[in-house]
Amino acid sequence: MSTEIRKVGVVGIGLMGSGIAQVAATRGFPTVVADVTEEIVKRGTERIRESLQRLAESHEKSGGKSGIPPQEKEKILTRLETTTERAKLLDCDILIEAIMEREGPKIELISSMAELGYRGLFVSNTSSISITRLAAVYPNPEKFMGMHFMNPVPLQPGCELIRGFLTSDETFETVTSFCRELGKEPIFAEDKAGFGINRMFVPFLIEAVKVVEEGIMSCEDADKTTLCLGHRMGPISTLDYVGLDTTLAIAEVLEHDLGPGYKAPDLLYKLVAAGFYGVKSSKGFYLWDKGKKLGINPAVARYRRK
Ligand SMILES: NC(=O)c1ccc[n+]([C@@H]2O[C@H](COP(=O)([O-])OP(=O)(O)OC[C@H]3O[C@@H](n4cnc5c(N)ncnc54)[C@H](O)[C@@H]3O)[C@@H](O)[C@H]2O)c1
Repeated sequence: MSTEIRKVGVVGIGLMGSGIAQVAATRGFPTVVADVTEEIVKRGTERIRESLQRLAESHEKSGGKSGIPPQEKEKILTRLETTTERAKLLDCDILIEAIMEREGPKIELISSMAELGYRGLFVSNTSSISITRLAAVYPNPEKFMGMHFMNPVPLQPGCELIRGFLTSDETFETVTSFCRELGKEPIFAEDKAGFGINRMFVPFLIEAVKVVEEGIMSCEDADKTTLCLGHRMGPISTLDYVGLDTTLAIAEVLEHDLGPGYKAPDLLYKLVAAGFYGVKSSKGFYLWDKGKKLGINPAVARYRRK
């Protein structure tokens, strides 16, 4: 374990925060994970339990080639502490922010941790927002940078590391080593909207929505297209997994920082306004039940017939 980082704090126990906390605890770090309500914390903890259970089953099925040994499951859970109190994060050596993809709430969180007296390493899992702008509200911007994990965190091998304008060499090196200690391959990027990955990937997802919106393809056919590229999951299903609210937020950052060519289509705005966020709300382009696809969302099918 790293000499500099012994205890990890994660803020947000949603899709990403739960995965990040799970990976940190799996790699031996005592980990505190905070969110806003007991109910959300309970749901996030359940997601971690289910993920560990799947990994334990995969270990058994693969004869130990993948997953985690079943006896590890409970040990990992004992390294995890959950809370709704931000003050419980103060003795962590690094804070990983994984709350909603909106600049206002992220800035409020970073400032409030500083007001509580936190001065350690601080990283943001933002998909697109300027690391330099977020670091500007932290009293030690040299200790701030981007650490953009991929979804689902326990399975994806890469993590994009983004240096802010003022990130120090020391922070950059410590976070790079920490990334490797979490078993993730660092992918380096500079601080510009969407960094490298979402600068390429989100416009692709957005074009897929336009292909459906313009009646060029059904969701199912748009999803089949990437089989030709060797990707089993197509762009429309991927959108449901990433979260339509999160994708829209990223598209808005790209549009704001890079120009109107990145504007999200009307269909995406309508789905988010209707509360259809994808797998996490059981409705997106498709209808979902506990991660199982049930069929196309009738609201999308009706919209396409217009
Ligand atoms: N979904 C993806 O595929 C993906 C991939 C990489 C990075 N990200 C980034 O990770 C971050 C989180 O995304 P997600 O998909 O986990 O979203 P999510 O909606 O699943 O979870 C966000 C969580 O943050 C919590 N939260 C909101 N405000 C908070 C606050 N002030 N304090 C504490 N908790 C708060 C919410 O209650 C929720 O549990 C975003 O910045 C997103 O861009 C997402």
